[in-house]
Amino acid sequence: MTGLFITFEGPDGCGKSTQIAPLADYLRSKGRTVYTTREPGGTEISDQVRKIIMAMKNTSMHPRTELLLFLSARAQLVEEVIRPRLAAGEIVISDRYADSTLAYQGYGHGVDRDVIRSLLAFATGGLKPDLTLLLDVDAETGLRRRQTGGGEWNRLDAYQLEFHRRVRDGYRELASLEPERWVIVDAEQTPEMVQLAIRGIVTARTGI
Ligand code: TYD
Repeated sequence: MTGLFITFEGPDGCGKSTQIAPLADYLRSKGRTVYTTREPGGTEISDQVRKIIMAMKNTSMHPRTELLLFLSARAQLVEEVIRPRLAAGEIVISDRYADSTLAYQGYGHGVDRDVIRSLLAFATGGLKPDLTLLLDVDAETGLRRRQTGGGEWNRLDAYQLEFHRRVRDGYRELASLEPERWVIVDAEQTPEMVQLAIRGIVTARTGI
């Protein structure tokens, strides 16, 4: 059995975290070993880097500094967790991965996307997901959900709505550039409908 690497992407408040656990349970019910992780974080070292990225007091952090911290957290996660598990034939589902960096630091902050792409290739050793699900909500809905619903408010949420719009549009462009890897899910539907759609897509794309 070969491993399978699935990533979830989308703007803040798109509901990724709500959807991943039931998908993992569903795939386990089909007899597969499933490991879920999230970015930034997922290893002891990566979680330490996450704290630096998220700290409210780090308001003077330059976008290039932020980019390199995301990449360092990811490099550790890939080598320590993702590659070994894929090699063992497991399904790894990650809440965010490399495309978050293109969407947020690239489209959001305007860091050169070709530069990001080559840094990503270096940081991940070229590891790409087999399937990426974009949970698509408009920026206003996402921010509203984030403020009223779960999840703590962090420094990154405080960026302007305009930033979140660029992120959302960026994601849609990324999906259109690689349609064989991406599927866009309408995440404005109820969580139950979104989960049904996700299961259907995973089955259609992977045969599981
Ligand atoms: P988190 O609290 O995990 O939010 P979410 O539930 O939306 O994933 O915060 C992660 C934040 O970091 C989120 O705003 C997206 C951002 N981010 C980047 O800007 N670049 C990246 O490479 C990654 C992985 C995340």
